[in-house]
Amino acid sequence: MSWKPAPEFPSSFLWGTATAAYQIEGAVAEDGRGRSIWDDFCERPGAIIGGETGVVAADHYHRWESDVDLMTTLGLDAYRLSLSWSRILPTGTGQVNVKGLDFYDRMIDRLCDAGITPAVTLYHWDLPSALQEQGGWMNRDTAFRLGEYAQIVGEKFADRVGMWMPLNEPVVHTLYGHALGVHAPGLALGFEAFQAAHHQLLGHGLAVNALRSAGCSNIGIASNHAPVRAASESPEDVVAADIYDHVVNWMFADPVLVGKYPADEFAQLLSGPIDEDLKIIAAPLDWYGINYYEPTMIAAPVEGEGTAGVLEIDLPPGLPFAPVAITGYPTTDFGWPIIPEGLGEILRTFQSRFGDALPPIYITESGCSFHDAPNEAGEVHDPARIDYHDAHLRSLRSAMDDGVDVQGYFVWSMLDNFEWAAGYKERFGLVHVDFDTQKRTPKDSFEWYRALISAHKAARV
Ligand code: FCB
Repeated sequence: MSWKPAPEFPSSFLWGTATAAYQIEGAVAEDGRGRSIWDDFCERPGAIIGGETGVVAADHYHRWESDVDLMTTLGLDAYRLSLSWSRILPTGTGQVNVKGLDFYDRMIDRLCDAGITPAVTLYHWDLPSALQEQGGWMNRDTAFRLGEYAQIVGEKFADRVGMWMPLNEPVVHTLYGHALGVHAPGLALGFEAFQAAHHQLLGHGLAVNALRSAGCSNIGIASNHAPVRAASESPEDVVAADIYDHVVNWMFADPVLVGKYPADEFAQLLSGPIDEDLKIIAAPLDWYGINYYEPTMIAAPVEGEGTAGVLEIDLPPGLPFAPVAITGYPTTDFGWPIIPEGLGEILRTFQSRFGDALPPIYITESGCSFHDAPNEAGEVHDPARIDYHDAHLRSLRSAMDDGVDVQGYFVWSMLDNFEWAAGYKERFGLVHVDFDTQKRTPKDSFEWYRALISAHKAARV
């Protein structure tokens, strides 16, 4: 294999991988699990490419022990998993399903025995269907249900979980799930979806407080962020890019980090006791997690021109911005441009925007889909994934050299899995999964990451 020696990181730097419950577990009707909005959404004709679902996924619910063995081989410091809310509380509230909680209890024990820190996401987009029936995130009560669920799992796992994050990517859940309708729960509310964002953020704050009161520490968030580039220097494009930047980045980071919305226009779209909520939303965090994939390029909207093909979805007309395809870069097999410098750029932007209000950062997701499959010898050669992570780590390292305090990196993903509306074709894993047989095959990138972690661990002693 031909990669360059990886850049060096401080010995305390944490090496991880990440997954999410609905994307890997399967077993959706086992041991008392309740339904979630992703079970419902997958049943909608046309919602998921090829009509695929997470009913079996990577069958991790039955194969978790050998999957943890793979993590042990990889030498991970930390494994980011999400808990399925409806496995633990089948209707989102009320009676705990002991079998569901026990599943995570065994997994967390096993991870700890293997010397791997469990890093737990409470909510990776899989709202219990019973809560959706009561309005889901458009209903303020859902925020309080997240807080109660946090209290339950916090009390159970405070002694063993080393990192907590109530939410994953509220921006994607809001825009894709509630504004555009291409993810569960499939609502196309346009700008009204900001109310769902606000309630998620309120739920985040309530969950942070509940976790702390349950004795948990090291609490953060996994939020998606990326640079927004203007398509040209024209004032119209620059203004459009700035609006978009506020919608996707600062609308979500500012409330959490500095307790306010980035512009009055946002607060005016919301109802409820916003100022009081913001005090809860800004509950101090121990760290802030950034999921980074690709920058976005934005132009001023041109009447009559659609946006098809840029975000894999067609945006409704009348928006004050228009995404433009970024060309001139290599792309992943998913078609996403590969722009490693965007990672360093967003880190520097966070540092300059928030200064002392910015806690240490973790990269809670970074990864790429390439479709490499086992060859005749049963090996999966995925040099492009190795190059991808290598380049992103270099970019991240350069931001650290510029003074950004980054403390760890989680590869998305440990295993190939159910990539939401894109189904099983997109493969982000360090481990290949044959979804017919569930056979796991570590890819070359797995071996690359193992060697990188091992070299850094050796330097610790
Ligand atoms: C992120 C999600 C994660 C996965 C990656 C590719 O937006 O958090 O579940 O789908 O993208």
